Amino acid sequence: LWQNVPLAPPDSIFQLTAAYKADTFKNKVNLGVGAYRDNDNKPWVLPVVKKATSILLNDEALDHEYLPILGLKDFTSAAAKLIIGSDSPAIKEDRVVSAQTISGTGANHLGALFLSKFYKWNGPAKVYLSNPTWANHHAIFKNVGIEPVDYAYYDPKTIGLDFNGFIEALKNAPDRSVFLLHACAHNPTGIDPTQEQWKAIAEVIGAKKHYSFFDCAYQGFASGDLDKDAWAVRYFVEQGLPLLVCQSFAKNAGLYGERVGALHIVSSDRETANRVGSQVSVLQRSEISNPPSHGARLVSLILNDAGLFEEWKRDIQTMAGRIIDMRKELHRLLTEELRTPGNWDHIVNQIGMFSFTGIQPEQSKALVEKSHIYLTGNGRISMAGLNSHNIRYFAGELDGVVRK
Ligand code: LMR
Repeated sequence: LWQNVPLAPPDSIFQLTAAYKADTFKNKVNLGVGAYRDNDNKPWVLPVVKKATSILLNDEALDHEYLPILGLKDFTSAAAKLIIGSDSPAIKEDRVVSAQTISGTGANHLGALFLSKFYKWNGPAKVYLSNPTWANHHAIFKNVGIEPVDYAYYDPKTIGLDFNGFIEALKNAPDRSVFLLHACAHNPTGIDPTQEQWKAIAEVIGAKKHYSFFDCAYQGFASGDLDKDAWAVRYFVEQGLPLLVCQSFAKNAGLYGERVGALHIVSSDRETANRVGSQVSVLQRSEISNPPSHGARLVSLILNDAGLFEEWKRDIQTMAGRIIDMRKELHRLLTEELRTPGNWDHIVNQIGMFSFTGIQPEQSKALVEKSHIYLTGNGRISMAGLNSHNIRYFAGELDGVVRK
């Protein structure tokens, strides 16, 4: 049995974490996985999460019963308001269906599965993904029989957005295509459209009747402000464009291993939303039956208590602020101290947890193999892996591979 099962390659991102852990070199640096670290390279349990955890621990009324199939209602309702906006017509008219999911990956999967069953495809099922995108997007859609197709996004010449290419791709795709859009803090490039560019994108999407599949894994990390980072999603909802949103609390609440997320499908009216919800519920039941309770309870406490919510916003600013400081320092080291060849302004212009350095795969490989600096082959670095103790070493090694 299983003689014909081929050996699969390891996951590109989690392989880096494993290799970093196994490395005994004193000055090793992990810039692979998108996970926040404090200035001492330690995972950071948000103070607000510690507070919420102690509230849960002291709650005698809590038990370990099943949650409803679509999850904890207090969590999903508050999560929907957080991304779509509490004043949104879609929320007020009760036409958003929300399901608690196994973090953002689970939301992407459930959303993709729902589309694979119910979207009215013009021909074979396809999803347009930004080139590049988070590698797992490809796998998630392929798993449910939806073929990924690239759309232009990144321009290597400017290390910026290929806005014209993006607009052309939207125009050239058949009407009613599905486009995956990163709501903010694009992974892996750290390059987002401006609000004016989003408006132009929305206009073409509306004219072509495309479906927007938003992935929002970094709300708060792009600008440090939860509302600002939700701008594109809210604008699309206001324009009446058909869409869904995948939401993760892994990064902005530091709840990576708790797998807290949600899928929100915005429908045109309440009656449609009810039918959509009934089918999402059937899919969820067959996949995971009911989502896990602990992380959702934590986030629900934080979202539904004004005091905790304010504290959370401060914690997000602490994380976003440290990342911005690292961007500035890296830029200063490269441009002023080391005078590294090339333009490095993208380091400070890009936003969110990642920076796309623009270096070539062989240069990334050299950093991993010779310098013990772990980063993905596409030159993406997680800014959260840099700190005041290792940034000089990283800048020096980067300068070295660029000069070679
Ligand atoms: C990343 O891109 O590093 C994160 O989203 C972690 C992951 O699941 O890949």
